[in-house]
Amino acid sequence: MSTATEKQFDQGLVNTIAAETQMSFIDGEKGVLEYVGIDIDSLARHSTFEESTFLLWNGRLPDAAELAGFETELRAEYALPEGLIAMIRETPADASTMHVVQTLVSALSLFDPECDDDSPEANIRKAVRLVAKTPTLIAAFDRHRKGKEIIPADSNRSIASNFLWMLRGEEPTETMVRALDVCLVLHADHGFNASTFTSLVVISTLSDLYSACSAAVGALRGPLHGGANEGVMVMLNEIGDLDKVDEFMKGKLERKEKIMGFGHRVYKAYDPRATYLKTFSEGLARDTGNLPLYEMSTRIEGIMHDAVASKGIFPNVDFYSATTYWSLGLELDLFTPMFALSRMSGWTGHCIEYLKDNKLIRPGAAYVGPHEVPYVDLADR
Ligand code: SDX
Repeated sequence: MSTATEKQFDQGLVNTIAAETQMSFIDGEKGVLEYVGIDIDSLARHSTFEESTFLLWNGRLPDAAELAGFETELRAEYALPEGLIAMIRETPADASTMHVVQTLVSALSLFDPECDDDSPEANIRKAVRLVAKTPTLIAAFDRHRKGKEIIPADSNRSIASNFLWMLRGEEPTETMVRALDVCLVLHADHGFNASTFTSLVVISTLSDLYSACSAAVGALRGPLHGGANEGVMVMLNEIGDLDKVDEFMKGKLERKEKIMGFGHRVYKAYDPRATYLKTFSEGLARDTGNLPLYEMSTRIEGIMHDAVASKGIFPNVDFYSATTYWSLGLELDLFTPMFALSRMSGWTGHCIEYLKDNKLIRPGAAYVGPHEVPYVDLADR
């Protein structure tokens, strides 16, 4: 058995490649992201969340019939089991939304007879259920916590349109649907980020897809990962005004505090997802009377560019998704659930891909504690 010295110590696994994948490619130096070789900017402009999910899971774009068939499969699975709706009705209205998502994603397993069938066919069916039902459970909880009637999913709608419908019971505008769909495309997959890697650790033990994805939700909740988009909005609300940005940022930088929505473990250039989101958020902010948020954001970006661009710190996907989600009228604590809703596509896809050549994930640890310590009876301590 190899000893610790033969293994590489790599805190945070910064320099470790854990497996191969054909789903997403990231060039951190050049700021490139591709889903199965297709540039993220093209997908954001021309694709949909459903089409991008098909691409990630199947390694190619669908033809018209395949896309229609996949959308039908997803829509057939939008509805929640009655037992899950009963659980939502018993959930405290002030519960943390990401704890609710994690709990309900796990609870979906209680109503799925295929939960422990880890055949590729059953896993794809479970992946469809997870991607299809996560928007429904998020919207259902939001309605419940506001004391409103839960709105059933409408299987005549896309995932983006259905989510906005279930949230408000009003016909969403095409602009709103498009904006959300772009966000879902941009957030669908991103290599072995912390939450995706979490799902792989779980699936590598041959546990089930629900366990893997609910664990991933737990990882995404953290402010260093998916929780950053909420942190960006908290920061913008705290600043409050364009003319207060400079003072606020001066203090943060002097105290060496991290600015949410900036920096990335892989990107040392502009996050390509932020590029498109930035232009998109400007139009949406203008249309919804939130332009001051966009103006504060660009001012913050300029200050950060002067201060830390030389260290490879640029806006990441979370920075402008905050203004986009706020302009969509989403509450702050729904921002990270939006990220989970979209990344369910990447989590399930990576789990199914990893199982094709599974290897239990179990890294070494460099023990730095004492040795040969005698046991002392309780009476003698
Ligand atoms: C996502 O991995 C993925 O792919 C994630 C993601 C995905 O799609 O799944 O892209 C989504 O999680 C995006 C990142 C969202 N998180 C944030 O916006 C939180 C703020 N960012 C940082 O906490 C940080 O940039 C990380 C955690 C994202 C990455 O940090 P690393 O790689 O662990 O690097 P580090 O924390 O050691 O920082 C290196 C240097 C430090 O300065 P020095 O001590 O060397 O002087 O850069 C500085 C840091 O202080 N730095 C920042 C900063 N991020 C890093 N300084 C100010 N503001 C920041 N945001």
